[in-house]
Amino acid sequence: MTTKNILLCVTGSIAVYKAADLANRLVKEGYNVETIMSHSAREFVAPLTFQTLTGNKVHTQMFDLFDPDHQVEHISLARKADVCIVAPATANIIGKIAAGIADDMVSTVIMALDHAPVYICPAMNTKMYENPIVQRNIKSLWAMGYRFIEPKESRLACGDIGRGAMADVNVIVNAVITYLQSVDKNGK
Ligand SMILES: Cc1cc2nc3c(=O)[nH]c(=O)nc-3n(C[C@H](O)[C@H](O)[C@H](O)COP(=O)(O)O)c2cc1C
Repeated sequence: MTTKNILLCVTGSIAVYKAADLANRLVKEGYNVETIMSHSAREFVAPLTFQTLTGNKVHTQMFDLFDPDHQVEHISLARKADVCIVAPATANIIGKIAAGIADDMVSTVIMALDHAPVYICPAMNTKMYENPIVQRNIKSLWAMGYRFIEPKESRLACGDIGRGAMADVNVIVNAVITYLQSVDKNGK
């Protein structure tokens, strides 16, 4: 069995620290994890954390001049992915995907994906999550086949209590592994 490639897209929420745990868990399960971090995500946690946990360079820049493999990085990342996880997913990235915006490495690679399903794990303040625009974007992405792992109710980092905390890492790991194992069973 060949090693499966997981593309982990990390965007700017306080829950970025949980994505480090997610990366760690997936690597320990035997998967190759490629991480892309948005500019905002890098305000919370340094790429070095993900680089160390995954053993891979963290992708951040669209216009990286030095590429030893001479590949168009966003396309090769998208082609190689067996599954993509957006965790944490901000209101902003959900809106950008829904609107077809590709203005940074995260949104461009998601746009360029071919066969890989995308698991979106929203994390945001309850009012943001309940905002009709965010809910409309979620519904429209859902209808297009994007998969959502719902946020849970919790005391949020801002002090509010309500829905918006990123789903537990266990829940995300189980969903993704179940998918990858089903692909293996079907011989793809
Ligand atoms: C302390 C702090 C916490 C934030 N947490 C969230 C969050 O949990 N969810 C969210 O959607 N935006 C959050 N934001 C706002 C995003 O970082 C902001 O919308 C940013 O433009 C998102 O960019 P990105 O989607 O490219 O990462 C937070 C901002 C700050 C300063």
